[in-house]
Amino acid sequence: MGMTNAQGPVLVTAATGKTGRRVLARLTDLGIDARGITRSDGFDWDAPARWPEFLTGVRAAYLAYAPDIAMPGAGAKVAAFAEAARAHGVERLVMLSGRGEETALASEQAVRVVAPDTTIVRCSFFAQNFDEGALAGYIAAGTLTLPVIDMPEPFVDVEDVAEVAAKALAEPGHEGRLYEVTGPELLTFAQAAELLGAQAIAVPVDEWRAELAAAGLPADLIDLLAYLFTEVMDGRNRSVADGVQQALGRPARRFEEFAAEMKKAAA
Ligand SMILES: NC(=O)c1ccc[n+]([C@@H]2O[C@H](COP(=O)([O-])OP(=O)(O)OC[C@H]3O[C@@H](n4cnc5c(N)ncnc54)[C@H](OP(=O)(O)O)[C@@H]3O)[C@@H](O)[C@H]2O)c1
Repeated sequence: MGMTNAQGPVLVTAATGKTGRRVLARLTDLGIDARGITRSDGFDWDAPARWPEFLTGVRAAYLAYAPDIAMPGAGAKVAAFAEAARAHGVERLVMLSGRGEETALASEQAVRVVAPDTTIVRCSFFAQNFDEGALAGYIAAGTLTLPVIDMPEPFVDVEDVAEVAAKALAEPGHEGRLYEVTGPELLTFAQAAELLGAQAIAVPVDEWRAELAAAGLPADLIDLLAYLFTEVMDGRNRSVADGVQQALGRPARRFEEFAAEMKKAAA
């Protein structure tokens, strides 16, 4: 199309979430005009008719699908958004993805079909799930109840995820790259819980599903969590990757640092 928006703002989806909030703050700190959008701004992954008004004049976009890129249909929606972004002259696209999930991989591929130079930030399990995410209630209550507690996972600090994404949005040189972003070491969920002052307890997955349903979680989220804590916990993610080092030229933050800060904030 030959149309570019080199002077326009950077668009940040999921802007009040764990990653988007930090991506927005980092871009703003870099002096870059950035605009966060969520459903309260009228942006909805399920309402494509309104996408054009958010994409007009935009220079780059951070694509973080909610609730989860591993959900069925997510890839088609993010790919449609990427296609619309390209049609509006948005040059740089940075996509958040999940590690070791077939459906997340399919979503990455769907986006790469329409925008091959998209930067992919493929992440391990977020440390902040224990603080701001789905597991926060368990930690606050002192007992982390999960179907799997002894699988080692390289928990990644969302501050690192956001720094990688913001850098790829802010400067050239990251086009088409895949950054596999994890923490620097493996810890089991039981070890992570202990560092957060909680005790992990294993429960059969069906019992866990029933607990989540009783707590009022919607069925599609329960299916997703069950998938993440059964199939995806088969050992496939039991390794660290060096995406933080590659993108930022420094090692990833340690879980112990995150844990110390979380405990301090709670005190
Ligand atoms: N948690 C992990 O361990 C992990 C690991 C790897 C990858 N990921 C990926 O991270 C992504 C989620 O990012 P996050 O954790 O930063 O977000 P988050 O904390 O879950 O927050 C979700 C954000 O998206 C917005 N949102 C929710 N539904 C929306 C919709 N239908 N349309 C538009 N915006 C919507 C929310 O604001 P409103 O409610 O106001 O709309 C909020 O800003 C998922 O795709 C997941 O697969 C997560």
